[in-house]
Amino acid sequence: MTMRLPDARAHLLTNATADRYRRTLMDGVERVAARIATTERPFTGITPDRLAAEVGAVDLDRPLGDPLAALDELENVYLRDAVYFHHPRYLAHLNCPVVIPAVLGEAVLSAVNSSMDTWDQSAGGTLIERRLVDWTAARIGFGPAADGVFTSGGSQSNLHALLLAREEALAAVALPRAEVLPRLRILASAAGHFSVQKSAKLLGLAPDAVVTVGVDADRRMRPGALHRELVRCRERGQIVMAVVATAGTTDFGSIDPLPAIAEQCAAAGAWLHVDAAYGCGLLVSPTRRHLLAGIERADSVTVDYHKSFFQPVSSSALVVRDRQALRHATYHADYLNPARMAEQRIPNQVDKSLQTTRRFDALKLWMTLRIMGADAIGALFDDVVDRAAAAWDMLAEDPRFEVVTRSSLSTVVFRYLPTGPGRVHADAVNLHAREALAASGAAVVAATKVDGRHFLKFTLLNPETTVEDIAVVLELVARHAGHYIDRVTTPMLACNAR
Ligand SMILES: Cc1ncc(COP(=O)(O)O)c(C=O)c1O
Repeated sequence: MTMRLPDARAHLLTNATADRYRRTLMDGVERVAARIATTERPFTGITPDRLAAEVGAVDLDRPLGDPLAALDELENVYLRDAVYFHHPRYLAHLNCPVVIPAVLGEAVLSAVNSSMDTWDQSAGGTLIERRLVDWTAARIGFGPAADGVFTSGGSQSNLHALLLAREEALAAVALPRAEVLPRLRILASAAGHFSVQKSAKLLGLAPDAVVTVGVDADRRMRPGALHRELVRCRERGQIVMAVVATAGTTDFGSIDPLPAIAEQCAAAGAWLHVDAAYGCGLLVSPTRRHLLAGIERADSVTVDYHKSFFQPVSSSALVVRDRQALRHATYHADYLNPARMAEQRIPNQVDKSLQTTRRFDALKLWMTLRIMGADAIGALFDDVVDRAAAAWDMLAEDPRFEVVTRSSLSTVVFRYLPTGPGRVHADAVNLHAREALAASGAAVVAATKVDGRHFLKFTLLNPETTVEDIAVVLELVARHAGHYIDRVTTPMLACNAR
């Protein structure tokens, strides 16, 4: 069905359609508000096959024409079965409930639709993003030479940091690139994020370019192990282009010892990148900022506002100590950012970014700081860190569970430990408990491996999650685990189950 031109124009957001925009958005807001207010479970437990049938049945070449009809349809293909992070029993990944000021920013930025590459596509947007980068740099403790840019997420921020580190390392040796590239190494702990490995691949480094540095019992990089790896690389003629320290590992919420690592990087002349994608919330914590001591000695820092600043996806930044390093991502295009613009001091962000057209995600953080303020965000993050500590205590006292590594942030890694003959099934029991819980929709928890064994994980990012919620979820885990053990250890039942 082809829409007539006047009808099509009625859907464009222009000065003639401001009223339609207002009404349509209100309809959408009403629908989402009703869903959010009445969500009883974080997930319905629907299977991919069932949902794929609903999505597949939609004829994309037959538009409904009417926003209300499309919203009705959206209930069935998305809203009804979405995973709701605002629900207090969503305890799985690093997804936060979002603050309303940021959602307001999101609505504004998509309607105005600025693009953050050049001044002539964003004007005030460029200045707002710059202010927020400066604000973040000041929170990190960087000096006036600092700069940075918003990115799509922690993976892109890490890639960008490592690109800069690679170029700095290449510039420091007077040898052909092709000769140096295979000798470059990145040192990171095994608890660091896998985007480091992906980045190494994208940056054309050797397959074994990422060297794993040993961790202590709390999953923090051991300075002694780092020293050994630095020496080993030197002895092998390898060049350490970066050490990646993690301020908040994804699974364990551990923070690498930043001052000791910074000391060694300075001595070895290695670029220090701090991946604070998760731990960046501590930058605004009224009580725990000291946990990031040493971060100010980094060369670059990844911050993910869409993790611990309660911002909608996407919202992240890469911040560098010395803006000179950002030149490695600069290319001048005649049509967009010719060199003369820099000479005329017309500000743009594309000279620093890996992206060209880019969302004005910074507006969400701006609205958050202007409406709520940084302390309020930090207090929300403090709440979830406190709750994780309480959950850890609860698990440590419960003989049915084993809990590992007390997190500095808000993760809790644990497993159900069957006793008696069920003990040999510990891995399968925990995998089953997680799946059964998600299928019931009553709660969503994550899974990971610790020393090769299957564990479960809470990532607490919702201040509305109470200790009672956690206790209820643990009972549910125990119940699903118990059913599984009964099935596999009772021969009759096991036969029937097959
Ligand atoms: C420590 C850490 N770094 C980087 C990332 C990647 O961030 P993103 O998912 O925003 O790309 C994550 C994601 O969980 C993370 O935990």
